[in-house]
Parts: sequence; structure tokens; C-alpha cells
Amino acid sequence: FASKAPESSQLTFKAVTPNQVDGIVVPNGYDHAVVIKWGDEVVPGAPRFNVAKQTADAQSKQFGYNNDFVAVLPLDRHGERALLVCNHEYTNEDLMFPAFPGMDGLSVEQLKVAMAAHGMSVVELERVGRSGRWEPVTRGSRRYNRRITALATKFAVTGPAAGSALLKTKADPTGRVVVGTLNNCAGGVTPWGTILSGEENFNQYFVGAETSTGADKDRFNRYGIDTVNRYPSGSRKWDRADERFDLTKNPTEANRFGWIVEVDPFTPGSTPRKHTALGRVKHEGANVIIAKSGKAVAYMGDDERFDYLYKFVSDKKFDSGKSDSARRHNLTLLESGTLYVAKLGFTSAAEIDGSGKLPSDGAFNGTGTWVPLVKDGKSQVPGMTTEEVLVFTRFAGDAVGATKMDRPEDVEPNPNTGKIYVALTNNTARGPAGKAPADEANPRTNNKHGHIFEITEDGGDHTGTTFTWTIPIVCGDPKDPATYFMGYDKSLVSPISCPDNVAFDGAGNLWIATDGNALGTNDGLFAVPLEGPEKGHLKQFLTVPYGAETCGPWIHTDNKSAFVAVQHPGEISGASVEKPASNWPDGDFAKPGIAVAWRVDGRNIGV
Ligand code: FEO
Ligand code: CA
Ligand code: CA
Ligand code: CA
Repeated sequence: FASKAPESSQLTFKAVTPNQVDGIVVPNGYDHAVVIKWGDEVVPGAPRFNVAKQTADAQSKQFGYNNDFVAVLPLDRHGERALLVCNHEYTNEDLMFPAFPGMDGLSVEQLKVAMAAHGMSVVELERVGRSGRWEPVTRGSRRYNRRITALATKFAVTGPAAGSALLKTKADPTGRVVVGTLNNCAGGVTPWGTILSGEENFNQYFVGAETSTGADKDRFNRYGIDTVNRYPSGSRKWDRADERFDLTKNPTEANRFGWIVEVDPFTPGSTPRKHTALGRVKHEGANVIIAKSGKAVAYMGDDERFDYLYKFVSDKKFDSGKSDSARRHNLTLLESGTLYVAKLGFTSAAEIDGSGKLPSDGAFNGTGTWVPLVKDGKSQVPGMTTEEVLVFTRFAGDAVGATKMDRPEDVEPNPNTGKIYVALTNNTARGPAGKAPADEANPRTNNKHGHIFEITEDGGDHTGTTFTWTIPIVCGDPKDPATYFMGYDKSLVSPISCPDNVAFDGAGNLWIATDGNALGTNDGLFAVPLEGPEKGHLKQFLTVPYGAETCGPWIHTDNKSAFVAVQHPGEISGASVEKPASNWPDGDFAKPGIAVAWRVDGRNIGV
């Protein structure tokens, strides 16, 4: 099913105005619909959703909570069928359970509902008429439909740290089989048709680190697992339902999360895998591009203030054949390779004062080196074994002096140009009081609104170790002098804050979804050309309901549909302004869900 690239990258839609509507707003000439939402049937025969009598068994067959990453993979030659694959990152128990009794008041069954609402969903979709609208298939075998949960799905561990003592537990003396996946945030689609998903803030699921000492305590601290309070605020209390979340009883269980997970959605019942060769951090996601040499290169971010950018280069080469043996070979590509972390050089270091003022050479830019951490299965970090580098990768980045970034979220190559785009969402601790002052790559103190970072590999070689970088977009209200949009006339640009997830359309335009808009209005989806006379002309394409963040996004391969995940509608904690409760999308109570927007005249979206 070939993609039809638009001839022009100019974006013709009229920008949506910032708002606080409890609904999705799209430009004139576009329409939108909910594709699937929390509680809908995924596994055929799932019990009908009943919010007052929800069970873990029902939730294990229904669409999970807080959809994040979205991919829609063509399933037939005619573009009429597709597989939706998405992540369910976390749960909002206060919004999920009527008459919420507080976390301590939840029954064990309710905790298991939350565990089953985590993970991933695979859902067969079909096109509605000839439009850009899609909906779930509701008849037939739907043999691909499946739920992957934190409660019950078994994962195989691959790579150099599989079987390590650091991954063995009482329940799994092999260190090779993990039950569940946690906090799956962003992800990517591989060229061989599988899904990668990042296990992000796994720290909040574990208790018991307050009794730890020495190196164990340092490790828990570096990964954000609380070593002071047994139940810090935000704790999920899952230890009441399953003792493996209690580190006093299972001290290595947390090491089994924080990985890049690979799922083969086209093989029903296939065992998903956790790839240790890609390191263990708070993985936002991973996106693969095939280098000229044929090697698979995955770009990744560790979403924490002052953490790092990574890339992985496979040892083996991609087989572009369509045979089963080619597919089996490609499924092994992420099991061995070289893991690198990024260290940056600057061109205007002396001029950076934290204000966001552009340096006299006209750019925040510089050079960079990919520093190897594990190569040929061997640690490149003095004092750390290969297993230690892979399981405690943040320490390896620290040891080699990697550059501390402002929360690296999605990292994705532009398939049209090979340049890599990074969403650096924000970092309000950047500056004199934080762990690091502003630098040319993170040029604002108290960075509330984030920026976009662009990497160009030297010689276009994704397997290389040197690159140049620049900052094309410094986010915020365009009236704020400390913003930048590739030099475009800022009076024509939409306000944007906290870029999180990115995608590309067939013309190579960058689409950016936001999380936590610090300008006080709803989050949304934006699009911006990266090349040509319109480069930097960023416009808001849609807004999501109160309290929600915009995840996904996914621009379908035929350029007729833009999918977004509406995550945590009605979540007001941490919001910059008081917002009323959301009751999107049905008018009763808030439900996370995936929506699709399309052009009423049937033409390509955006352009
Ligand atoms: Fe789950 Fe980094 O956002
Ligand atoms: Ca410069
Ligand atoms: Ca994210
Ligand atoms: Ca987010």
C-alpha cells in the first residue's frame, strides 16, 4: 500500500485558536471521531464495560487506560484494513473508579483492574466509506486483536543482560521471563513491521527501597525509586496486590522494567520481548532507521530532567526480503549491537546566558559525538561490566560525561531527510539552582516550554559516531522574545508549549503533540514544514479536551488521516490553571481514547 507523497509541503489549514474547550477542535474543513476508548471491546467477547462493576478479567479484554503511542499499520493492499497498536501508559484511579475511596481504599481487585488497564492493545480497524475515518472491526475472528497487560503477559528478555543475576528473581530464576510491561509511553514502528514501546516511569510502581543501602540505594536513587518513604505521593500501592512490587521481598524486580519492548502485532500470540542491548533508562520510545550499510539504528531518549540521548546500532543487517526467513532474521536485529550516548560540543558557549537569546552566529548549534557504552558485547565503560552498563545505563552515561538534556522525549528520524528530531519537553530545574546551567543545546534557564533539537549525522551515516546539531524551534508564546521558529515571521506562528511526541507526514512536515501546555490552554497537535520557504511556519492543527495531553500522533501512510491519543482527559493535578472536570467523549465521565481527524473533501491532511 504505497504512500502518496504530497507535491508541496505547504500547510494550508487555518490554525486552531488556543482554547479550553472540553472536546476536540479541528480546523474548518476537517472532521473528527473517536476510534476507540477505555473499556471498549478488544478481545472478541469481552464483557460490556460497566464502570461500577469493573473487574480485572473484563479489563484484560477491554481497551486499556491512558492511551499514549499510536501506530496504524496497513493490513491489506487496498488500504481498507489496518491494525491499531497503542500503549496504555498508566492509570488515573481517581477518575476510573466511581466514589474513589483513595489509593488505600482500593480493593485488591481494583488494583488488579489498574494493572490490567496498563500495557498495550492491538485492534483491527476498517476504513469508513472512502473517508479518512476509521473504526474498529466488530465482526469476524479479529484474530490479531489482543491485550498485553502489566498483570499477566509474559515477556522474553533478550540481549547481553538476559539471564544476568541482576535480572533473576525468586519467581524467575532464569532472569529471562518477565511478567508485564509498565508505563509504556512513546514508541515506533520498525521497518520490519513490529512495534517498539518504551517502559518509562517504572519507578512509581515499586516500594521498599527505603531499606536499601550502599550501591543498591544509589541505583534506586538514580532511577527515581524513593529511598526515603515506603509510599511517596503518587505511589500505586501495587505491592498490596502482588508482592513482586515490594523490593524488600524482590530486590531485583525493578531491574526487569525500563526497557525497550518489541511486539510483533502481525503474529497473534507471539511473545513480546524486552531488549537489554538497548539499555535500561526511563525509555520514552525508540525509532529505527536503516543505515546505508543495512544496519538498523534506533534513536532513543531518557525522559528525565538532565538525562541523555542514546542510539543503538545493530550488529546484523536488515533483510528487505518478504520471506518468513527474512522476517525471522529481522526480529533478531535488536538483540545485539553497539549502544551509544550523546556528548555535545558548542559553537557559542560563551554567549549562552540562560535567556534564550540567539547567539551572534545566528543559531543554537554545535557538534556531537556518539560515545560507545557497549560494543561487541563488551563494556566500554571503565569499572562497569557489560551487564551493569545495560541494566544501570544512566550511570554509564554519567561516567562518560554525556550531555544533560531538558527531558528527551520522542526521538525520531525524518524519513525524507534522515535528520533526527528530538522533543525536549521542558526542564524547570535548568539553571543556576539545578544540576546544570543553561548551555547552547538547552539554552533557557527554567525551561518551561521546551524546544526541538535536530541532529544531522556526518555524511548521512546513521552508524557513524559524529554529528552536527541545531535547535530549529524554541517553544513558547511567539510574542516571547525567547522563542524561535526557524527564523519564520513569529506573528504568523501558533503558541506551542511542551513538545512531547513527534511524527512526519508524507511531505516530511513535522507534527508535534504537546503534554502540559504551560501557556494555560489545552494541549494539542501542531504541524510545521522543515524545508522550503514555509519552514518554521508552525500551526496548531487540533486541540484536545480539558486536562488531556495529546499523544500519538500518527499520520496515516496515505496522508488522509491524523490519529491522536487523548490521554488523561480531566487530569488536573499539576495543571497551570484550574480546569473543570472533563466528561469527554460521552458526556458522562472522562475516558481516554483515540481519535482520528480527516479532511471532509477527502484530500490529504495538512496540505
Ligand atoms: Fe510518558 Fe515522557 O512521557
Ligand atoms: Ca551557535
Ligand atoms: Ca511522552
Ligand atoms: Ca507525556
